[in-house]
Amino acid sequence: MLGRVNHVAIAVPDLAAASAAYRDTLGASVSAPQGLPEHGVTVVFVELPNTKVELLEPLGADSPIAAFLDKNPSGGMHHICYEVSDILSARDHLIQNGARVLGNGEPKIGAHGKPVLFLHPKDFFGTLIELEQV
Ligand code: CO
Repeated sequence: MLGRVNHVAIAVPDLAAASAAYRDTLGASVSAPQGLPEHGVTVVFVELPNTKVELLEPLGADSPIAAFLDKNPSGGMHHICYEVSDILSARDHLIQNGARVLGNGEPKIGAHGKPVLFLHPKDFFGTLIELEQV
């Protein structure tokens, strides 16, 4: 069911500082910031030869990453995103196998304009999983 790793997402308290560190210190290609109000984050994409890293900063009053940053004030790995070819059949398979899908269970459009779902981290060893249909 799982395909490639689409991205790893890192929550950061200061997106400009994190972008500069990835661009200048690590020597990576970093996109311009993109606000995603419906997801409560501002994101930049770090483009790597084999995948992407997304740096996420809270956007708005009730950002889903605000609590994470309260617990991890200097930032930290927030989720990993795997590609799937059919997100609805993946969701149904997961639910049949006892996994919890966050939200109302319906895919939302993610940062890349594709449908995404998130899976409960307690079902997957403490790691928040995003599935993206490609
Ligand atoms: Co993501």
